[in-house]
Formats: sequence, structure tokens, C-alpha cells
Amino acid sequence: MQRVTRMKRSILITGGAGFIGSHVVRLFVTKYPDYHIINLDKLTYAGNLANLKDIENAPNYTFVRADICDFDTVCSLFGQYSIDGVIHLAAESHVDRSIKDPFTFARTNVLGTLSLLQAAKHHWNGEWAGKRFYHISTDEVYGALQFDGSLFHETTKYDPHSPYSASKASSDHFVRAFHDTYGMPTLVTNCSNNYGPYQFPEKLIPLFINNIRHGKPLPVYGKGENVRDWLYVVDHARAIDTIFHNGKDGETYNIGGFNEWKNIDIVKVLIKTVDRLLGNAPGTSEHLITYVTDRPGHDLRYAIDSTKLKTELGWEPSLQFEEGIEKTVRWYLDHQEWMDNITSGEYEKYYDDMYKNR
Ligand code: NAD
Ligand code: TYD
Repeated sequence: MQRVTRMKRSILITGGAGFIGSHVVRLFVTKYPDYHIINLDKLTYAGNLANLKDIENAPNYTFVRADICDFDTVCSLFGQYSIDGVIHLAAESHVDRSIKDPFTFARTNVLGTLSLLQAAKHHWNGEWAGKRFYHISTDEVYGALQFDGSLFHETTKYDPHSPYSASKASSDHFVRAFHDTYGMPTLVTNCSNNYGPYQFPEKLIPLFINNIRHGKPLPVYGKGENVRDWLYVVDHARAIDTIFHNGKDGETYNIGGFNEWKNIDIVKVLIKTVDRLLGNAPGTSEHLITYVTDRPGHDLRYAIDSTKLKTELGWEPSLQFEEGIEKTVRWYLDHQEWMDNITSGEYEKYYDDMYKNR
């Protein structure tokens, strides 16, 4: 393990080998050379160190493979690295998996968050100045909207429907309870659906890009009428940076780009873009659309109001959706090896080998 000295801050980022976490780690490691960034990740099926290849040797970066539920290990990391800030992204994140295996979601998302909170409380011991515990959450905790133009606000009552959103809602409440009960300086943000490079190909956008490329069916749940509000992942990472540094203790901020799309319309955009970039005639892949049985409890519509974040902290998305989707499709087409390593299971050997050689 490398020695890092004279760092201004020591920040524990959990889940940094996942989709959003890898963008946050990359942003903090490159933008803040005087911060020590400790990436704590269990490397579940969703964690992939190849997502961070470009910064893995940076002098201000340390990777630790551990489970956030392992309280003793988490506690010792706080001491070992004198952690003064936490940006907590580690979670089980896929709704369909939560329907099959809710226990794992309760364990990681609820108990894992509690383990981190307790370790922070224990280590900081009431000296809150300069400390920050920032919990990354989802707009799915607010439940489902109708097609009536309404939006989720920071004050919207929680109404989670899936085991995933129920577990995230519970963890949000624990974070707020630590603020209200012990005075811990906490932040919670609830963000809309993210898309962009390095997303695990079980989620709609990377799964469908890969299937179109390989001429495989595109399983659209129900009638494809459900609406999601999409944000480019790098804009989410920028928002996390802004909020971590300038957000007010104890506050909640919604993050979103006012960018609602029906699933079926997204699928058509993906087909058009992939076909164009592969040089196929327009409409070539439309026959791949396959309507399948709907997801149980499928939330109809998500739409987030992020006005508070814009007016109070000045954050706005930097990319229009058309630009973001074009970049994203190009990235997946240009990184077929990254995708193949996942679909073949090869990526899981990468860190096993790395650990064996230490
Ligand atoms: P992801 O599934 O791609 O990555 C999760 C990461 O957490 C993986 O690297 C995994 O190895 C790690 N992890 C899982 N269990 C762990 C454990 N017990 N201990 C340590 N590490 C563990 O998820 P993502 O899409 O990047 O989401 C990151 C966070 O953002 C989650 O908290 C999620 O709820 C939230 N979020 C996601 C979205 C989205 O659209 N993806 C939107 C809003 C909020
Ligand atoms: P997903 O990427 O799983 O995100 P979330 O469920 O957290 O919103 O799904 C986005 C939308 O796409 C959601 O309405 C479910 C739908 N969907 C499909 O229609 N087919 C699929 O194969 C997947 C994975 C998702």
C-alpha cells in the first residue's frame, strides 16, 4: 500500500468500482490531487476495476477491497486513513435483482449504510468540524408519478415500491436519523436514472446497445410506456462534487436534468443511433423490439425537480440528452472489449489475479 502524505482531506468513497462510483472516483482523484481518495468496494458482480484503469496508479488513490457490512474492517479504515469525508455509493442497485433477492438488498443497502454511519460516529467522536457523510440515493424512494406533469420535490413523501427502493429509503432515513440524533454533518441526494460509460449491462441502455449490436432481442417490459428521467453520469458526478463541497449539513438535494423519456422512445433512439453508427440502413434493428411480461410493481413514471440544486448551488447538467446518448452509444461501440469481458465473466478474474499477485 502506498504512503500518502500531506493530503488536505482523506475521503472514503464506497462503491467506487461501480458505474457512478467510478466516475466520482475519477473526478475526485484528478481534480483534487491534494485529497487522498480511498475507494472501498467489495467487488460484487457489479464492481469492475477495469472501470478505473486510467487512474489506478495515481499517487492520491488507494483501493481497498472490503464489505461495507464488515463493521470492524470499516472502523479500522477510518482510523488507518484518518477519514474526514465519506461519499457513500456502495449498494445493490438493480430493481430486477431486488425482486428476486430482497435480503441482499436489505443487508448491503440498509445494514451496510448503518455500519458506515456507526464507524464514522465512532471515529469522529462528536468532533464534527470539517467532517461530512454524504449518502447517494435515488428518486425511486418517492414512488411513482402519474402522467400529470407532477415532479418529485425534496419534500415529496417517501413511497417506495420495489425492494430496491424500500432498502434505499430505509438507508436515507438512517442517515437523516444520525444527523437529527447525534448531530452528524450529513447530506442526502436523490438522483434520477443515470446513463453513460461503464454501466453494468443489466440496465436498460447498455443492455440494449449491446443487444442491438449483436442482433439480439430487446426485452421491453409491458408496453414500454413507463417514463424515466435520464441524466448523463458525468453530470451526476459533477453534482456530487458541488454538493459535497458546498451543500448545507442535514440537507437533501434532488438531482436531475428535466429529461423525461418513455422507455419505448429511448429504445427507438438507441436503435437509430446504433444502426447509423454501424452503417446499417435505417430501421434495420427495429424488428428486435420484443414486448415481454411487465416487471412486477413497475413504477409508471419518475420525474425530478432539481430547482433547489440549481438555485442554491448553481449546478446544471452540461449535456443535452441527444449529445449524451450519442457519446454513450459511441463509447459502448468503441469499448466492445470492456463489454465482452463482462458478458464472458472475464472481468471478475482481473482482480482475483491482481490480489493473488500481491
Ligand atoms: P452499481 O451497481 O454499478 O455499483 C455498485 C458498487 O457497489 C459496485 O462496485 C459493487 O461492487 C459495490 N458494492 C455492492 N455491495 C457492496 C458491499 N456490501 N460493500 C462494498 N461495496 C459494495 O451501482 P450504480 O448504478 O453505480 O449506483 C451507485 C449508487 O447510486 C447506488 O447507491 C445507487 O442506489 C445510486 N443511484 C443509482 C442511480 C442509477 O441510475 N444507476 C440513480 C440514482 C442513484
Ligand atoms: P433500469 O435500467 O433497470 O432502471 P430502473 O428500473 O432503476 O429505472 O430500467 C429502466 C426502465 O427500463 C425501467 O422502466 C424498466 C425498463 N426495462 C425494460 O423495459 N427492459 C429491460 O430489459 C430493462 C433492464 C429495463
